[in-house]
Amino acid sequence: MSQTIPTPHGLPMERNAGPFDPPRELTRLREARPVSPMLFPDGHEGWLVTGYEEVRQLLADTRFSSRQDIGVLHVPYETPGMPTPTEPSPQIPGMFVAMDPPDHTRLRRKLIGAFTVKRMKQLEEHIVDIAERHLDEMARLAPPVDLVKEFALPVPSLVICELLGVPYADRETFQVNSAKFLVREQTLEEKVAAYGALTSYLAELVTGKRAEPGDDILSDLARDEDLSVEELVGIAFLLLFAGHETTANMLGLGTFALLEHPEQLAELRANPDLMPDAVEELMRYLSVADIFYRYATEDIELGGETITKGSTVVVALLAANRDPGRFDNPDTLDVHRKARGHVAFGHGVHQCLGQQLARIEMRAGFAGLLRRFPTLELAIPAGEVKLKTDMNIYGVHELPVTWTEAAR
Ligand code: HEM
Repeated sequence: MSQTIPTPHGLPMERNAGPFDPPRELTRLREARPVSPMLFPDGHEGWLVTGYEEVRQLLADTRFSSRQDIGVLHVPYETPGMPTPTEPSPQIPGMFVAMDPPDHTRLRRKLIGAFTVKRMKQLEEHIVDIAERHLDEMARLAPPVDLVKEFALPVPSLVICELLGVPYADRETFQVNSAKFLVREQTLEEKVAAYGALTSYLAELVTGKRAEPGDDILSDLARDEDLSVEELVGIAFLLLFAGHETTANMLGLGTFALLEHPEQLAELRANPDLMPDAVEELMRYLSVADIFYRYATEDIELGGETITKGSTVVVALLAANRDPGRFDNPDTLDVHRKARGHVAFGHGVHQCLGQQLARIEMRAGFAGLLRRFPTLELAIPAGEVKLKTDMNIYGVHELPVTWTEAAR
């Protein structure tokens, strides 16, 4: 029997078990049936996958097409009145997160060199610098301040802008418009308008780089005659968007989670060598990019169920990362845990291209913040922190914090 899940977009998203935990319905489904049939609000049937092993298996299987996941746009099932799709969505040039091999392979290959562990290591010092500079500025302010505005958002935004060669001064254009994709109840018209504004901005930018390339990733791509301007725009959009929203939410929500787990925070402060493991654990525990979509291109057996050809499949990464079959005491935040193997960066051919960059940003960001602000605390009761339950990527809208002393 299919579950009808009574939310406007058909998915239980409200984190009703606590600000950091999966919705109770998802936990219950994972325990009862990790691959569950579900009904979307428009009445068409699909599947919801919540078990760790099942999620890994699904993401490793390219018979599950990513062309259902039109990336950040997520249009079909979240828009009431849209017709039931009977085939994969049309491709958006350059948007390789929503493509399958070989189209996906062709584009991803052009970027792998720019995001290798080695390249990212070379950037580490500079990223630490950017984080420290923002902390200097924050320390000069009179608390309380909003940590999202002063730190969590600007650091990854500036880093990705510099890497791509997007003028940071233009950040309003992409921050305001990209935030519009994330509001789940945003109308299709508004999403299309925001997309139009962003793509015309980026088209001008990449055309300029094609004429006069500089020393940045978009210029390197623009030199490649094999890529059309439309593809360059799609790639730029994807990188710019994926590169700042996700990491910003991890920094904001991660700080909130640490402040709410004072004993874990104290251990991390006392032993900064724990930071790489702590970052993996925060990724697992919070899974800010939680829901992804796939499309079954044939009948596929998964977790003892048969997913029929043409079904839309919803992948719940947070539920998978809290699967007791894979992680002991999964709902406990434990900075000593070896959480590698979590699926918060996805798995398979689409596994996050920016994961090394994100790790470096988070390690530098959390380490700097904890060192510089030894007395950091929330400036409002935890229950009043505004959570992004209305957004496709989870986090906090604002995080008012205060402190009594700031260190150098
Ligand atoms: C893909 C999460 C940071 C760029 C993904 C996927 C996840 C993810 C779950 C897989 C999507 C799928 O399978 O459909 C995250 C999280 C981040 C983060 C949680 C921060 C903590 C970044 C950064 C960049 C980035 C900093 C910078 C460039 C990408 C790209 C893809 C991707 C381009 C598509 C890869 C492909 O389709 O081959 N990310 N990401 N991400 N991410 Fe990240």
